[in-house]
Amino acid sequence: MKNLISQLLATAVDTLKHEGVLPADITPNIQVETARDKTHGDFASNLAMMLAKPAKMKPRDLADKIVAALPAHQAVANVNIAGPGFINFFQDSAWLAAQLQSALNDPQLNARAAGEAQRVVVDYSSPNLAKEMHVGHLRSSIIGDAVARVLEFLGHTVIRQNHVGDWGTQFGMLLAYMEENPVDAEAELGDLENFYRQAKKRFDESDDFANRARERVVQLQAGDPQCLALWNRFNQISLGHCQAVYDRLGVSLTQADVRGESAYNDQLAGIVSDLRSAGLLTESEGAQCVFLDEFKNSEDKPLPVIVQKAGGGYLYATTDLAAMRYRHEQLHADRVLYFVDQRQALHFQQVFAVARKAGFVPADMQLEHMGFGTMNGADGRPFKTRDGGTVKLTDLLDEAEQRAHTLVAEKNPELSAAELREIARAVGIGAVKYADLSKHRSSDYSFNFDLMLRFDGNTAPYLMYAYTRVASVFRKLERPMTQLDDLAPLVLEAPAEVELGAHLAQFGNTLNYVAREGTPHVLCHYLYELADRFSGFYEQCPILAADNQAQRDSRLRLAALTGRTLQQGLNLLGITTLERM
Ligand code: ARG
Repeated sequence: MKNLISQLLATAVDTLKHEGVLPADITPNIQVETARDKTHGDFASNLAMMLAKPAKMKPRDLADKIVAALPAHQAVANVNIAGPGFINFFQDSAWLAAQLQSALNDPQLNARAAGEAQRVVVDYSSPNLAKEMHVGHLRSSIIGDAVARVLEFLGHTVIRQNHVGDWGTQFGMLLAYMEENPVDAEAELGDLENFYRQAKKRFDESDDFANRARERVVQLQAGDPQCLALWNRFNQISLGHCQAVYDRLGVSLTQADVRGESAYNDQLAGIVSDLRSAGLLTESEGAQCVFLDEFKNSEDKPLPVIVQKAGGGYLYATTDLAAMRYRHEQLHADRVLYFVDQRQALHFQQVFAVARKAGFVPADMQLEHMGFGTMNGADGRPFKTRDGGTVKLTDLLDEAEQRAHTLVAEKNPELSAAELREIARAVGIGAVKYADLSKHRSSDYSFNFDLMLRFDGNTAPYLMYAYTRVASVFRKLERPMTQLDDLAPLVLEAPAEVELGAHLAQFGNTLNYVAREGTPHVLCHYLYELADRFSGFYEQCPILAADNQAQRDSRLRLAALTGRTLQQGLNLLGITTLERM
């Protein structure tokens, strides 16, 4: 609807340009907002105020002209002007009802990619395998997964890439430790964090060990079969830990999506030589660097992107350049999204610029760093265990499920133990994910069990519960939510019905926004408002106790679309809905 109104307004602007009312050289950024107070209309635009100056007219007079030039459309029942010159639009409820009916008939709920479908590479999760996944990887995994699901649902081709850190000097240390403790190692690898700590301790204490560790790095890089076998074994175990976390979290990554740093090893020399041929390399203190004018330090000196160290070793940036080229040449990506900590923002700006300059990717391939802030504890400080260690993801999820268990048991003492366990799992995991997803990704966020597990407010339990309310209406009727064919048509009469209907019709728009901006919190907000409007509708418009059969049927259809939209929306966020809780 917003798009439609923008188009109508754009047509009016063109007409006024032809008539000489507006200067021919303006291209206004037309904004249409959903009106808060529906008595003044469903949508509003401030266009007349924006253009009053260039038109040299009073905003209200210009608004009159714009309204007169607006083409008629069946979706718009009425247009008026309010206040200093706002243009208000009233939606036609018969047209809206037809839209909702068509959404009900569509497994896609009328949500489709706004533009052409693209091939989108989504780089997310991407932990370093030397250590166990910790809370820092939670955000990338959860946010990236939600955006990947939304893109896919809209019809884009999504290629997931888990760019794991499986290469680098730490691996020499880990291999040396594995060799030294061949028997214990297998058992100790069950606890990677501890394994890493032990290896690091040996490394710091013993020069002998440290030397062996360095040797192993060199051997590994030279492709020594024994070293490679050990390294492989280590990575398999570590990836197994990651997969267990993905499965438990409902993150849709699989082993097939893993393409780690090591996969690019044999292309790194080529990247450096191609940069040299392109005339982009400068040697600085023995290292090979690219200096770009657009990146300067505080003293206005250009910053280097180092692609090869003085000793010959390659870096994180070199690998990312190779990965970009691969994503262009082999994966044929139109667009690549990186869900990585905001602190790597400069790194991505730099490697994107270098890749474009060197021609590794074409100018029209979109490269976007979807940065996110730090996850803090409830006290707003970096998330740590009581004794200052890093919090393991599995421990965190255990606690979430336990707390959910207690809460649900209190609310619903009659549930069987098995049911309770299933609900606690869905609510606990859903709460952790939703709390993260519902904040703007670029801000830091405080992890707070008490808030995320509340059954009111913008939380997973609240939305999951809203879905069960819809489900229970259909359960009472012993009718599946999808079986509506024999019901009377959908008609929007009461204000609460129109409000709910207008919001339901925004689902596709909302998903397209999330796909463009990589911001799942916008979908969370949409669903929260949907649940809220459903509550209003549920209170004001009795369904099962409606005045007559036709009204009951129409309301059932509206409830069914709400239920399916809530379920689909939560599903796109990677959250499971329950039939009862
Ligand atoms: N492994 C890196 C880290 O944990 C993240 C990698 C992100 N992806 C990329 N293509 N650089 O910081």
